[in-house]
Amino acid sequence: TKDTTDYVAEINRLKKEKNAVILAHYYQEEAIQDIADFVGDSLQLAQEAAKTDADVIVFCGVHFMAETAKILNPKKKVLLPDLKAGCSLADSCPPEEFKAFKAKYPDHKVVTYINCSAEIKTMSDIVCTSSNAVKIINSFPKDQKIIFAPDKNLGDYLNKETGRDMVLWDGACMVHEAFSIEKLLTLAAEHPDAEIIAHPESPSHILKTASYIGSTAGLLKYARESKKDKFIVATEAGILHEMIKQVPNKHLIPAPAEEDNSCACSECFYMRMNTMKKLFLCLEHELPAIEVDEKLAADALLPIERMLALSK
Ligand code: 13P
Ligand code: SF4
Repeated sequence: TKDTTDYVAEINRLKKEKNAVILAHYYQEEAIQDIADFVGDSLQLAQEAAKTDADVIVFCGVHFMAETAKILNPKKKVLLPDLKAGCSLADSCPPEEFKAFKAKYPDHKVVTYINCSAEIKTMSDIVCTSSNAVKIINSFPKDQKIIFAPDKNLGDYLNKETGRDMVLWDGACMVHEAFSIEKLLTLAAEHPDAEIIAHPESPSHILKTASYIGSTAGLLKYARESKKDKFIVATEAGILHEMIKQVPNKHLIPAPAEEDNSCACSECFYMRMNTMKKLFLCLEHELPAIEVDEKLAADALLPIERMLALSK
């Protein structure tokens, strides 16, 4: 039988009934971005989670984001529509292996990208996102030795930006690794009036072609403020939904992925696990909820709070 549920109406009803807030990342499907109370990048979402007075937080993003929201709000219920919405980058850094890696560099501070598990955060001096990474790294003295994990592409970009030589963990995001440099260069040749803008999780051969490199919020700001009216956008294609709203008269083209696929772009399989139906069900049943061990959460909170204090 056909599903005739009016998910928009039902989600709005439940949200009110339960005093819940829906936080969504720019990589979520369009309907979820449209129904969310707040849409943002990783930093904005963590900041929003830190200050919300809702009783329930429904996190439409991936597990590490919802886990961070729970660590910031141990007493609140934090829901994730699909618990299996993980992250290839977070998965590329298993805690036991990272512990052994860190032990090889005893005089190094540890800066970790927020895309990692709570266990990795407990081994970090400070957390960062792509929006504030340069600022966070520059908060250490120039001669401070640093380990940066888990994203080697972002780490390599940050080494160049800050003139440092951080030791990098060998992790990556499958969505940003999927861009094809050959197809991108062909597309750019077809659109010589377009500027390439890219997320720093992209590999260096992609970043070399970009006129601007920044977080999802940074890319949106650049598209708004640049005089150019055509962009090839190298990040998860979900961002185009918000970008079109913000610059309706500009021409936006998603950067092409290596594999031919239906969107001719790169989408995050994990982010797309959340759907309107799962969002409705999770609000209705208040499940699945994120649980973090109390001691683990307390230890992981410190490096997150340090980041938030430096990001005001
Ligand atoms: P930002 O939200 O910091 O741009 O990061 C993108 C990302 O890959 C989140 O998983
Ligand atoms: Fe992880 Fe990449 Fe998906 Fe972001 S886009 S959640 S970094 S796999």
